[in-house]
Amino acid sequence: MALEGAFDIDADRARTFVGEFGGRLYAELEAVLADPGVAIVANLTSVSQHYAVTKATLLAGKYVYSEKPLAPVLEQATELVELAKERGLLLSSAPSTVFSQAAQTLFKAVGDGLIGTPRLAHGNLDMGALAFMPYSEWRGRRGVPWPYWDEVPNGCVMEHAGYQLG
Ligand SMILES: NC(=O)c1ccc[n+]([C@@H]2O[C@H](COP(=O)([O-])OP(=O)(O)OC[C@H]3O[C@@H](n4cnc5c(N)ncnc54)[C@H](O)[C@@H]3O)[C@@H](O)[C@H]2O)c1
Repeated sequence: MALEGAFDIDADRARTFVGEFGGRLYAELEAVLADPGVAIVANLTSVSQHYAVTKATLLAGKYVYSEKPLAPVLEQATELVELAKERGLLLSSAPSTVFSQAAQTLFKAVGDGLIGTPRLAHGNLDMGALAFMPYSEWRGRRGVPWPYWDEVPNGCVMEHAGYQLG
């Protein structure tokens, strides 16, 4: 399966992404959804956009892999799951750690009875002293800023609890 292309409401972001990874530059989401060559949409938008983009994609009859959380509100996430079921479409969400070699090895070991019956799983999340870090200046390889304006109001728990659950 090949990358067909990318769309971003910030055209420069999409342009540099396609420049690095290849594929077509889409001018709008509707163009992505209308493209018969697109089978799966990876919804990598900001948290507040996950629900709307995933819903539009499912309504267009395409599979979705969404960044976490699936939606910021449980009712919206439930609606998306129901919509995907109704339409016979696959819907999945980050984190995908469950598919990692470590997790799969562990599942096999448990399934084969190699380590007995697990009784307790414990996860601990420590984000460190974020308030004291220069996060407003953090940049990725392509100069893209870390989106603290989206991450901080949503909260670190909402952003990262999924890793512990996954
Ligand atoms: N799984 C992981 O390891 C991991 C790591 C970092 C971030 N995330 C998640 O990825 C998502 C994005 O995080 P980020 O750090 O890349 O944020 P970001 O702000 O750098 O990127 C989000 C992009 O989405 C675009 N966008 C916003 N609304 C859109 C819309 N309606 N249609 C099209 N494009 C739209 C923005 O212009 C921006 O370029 C968040 O949900 C975050 O929780 C996951």
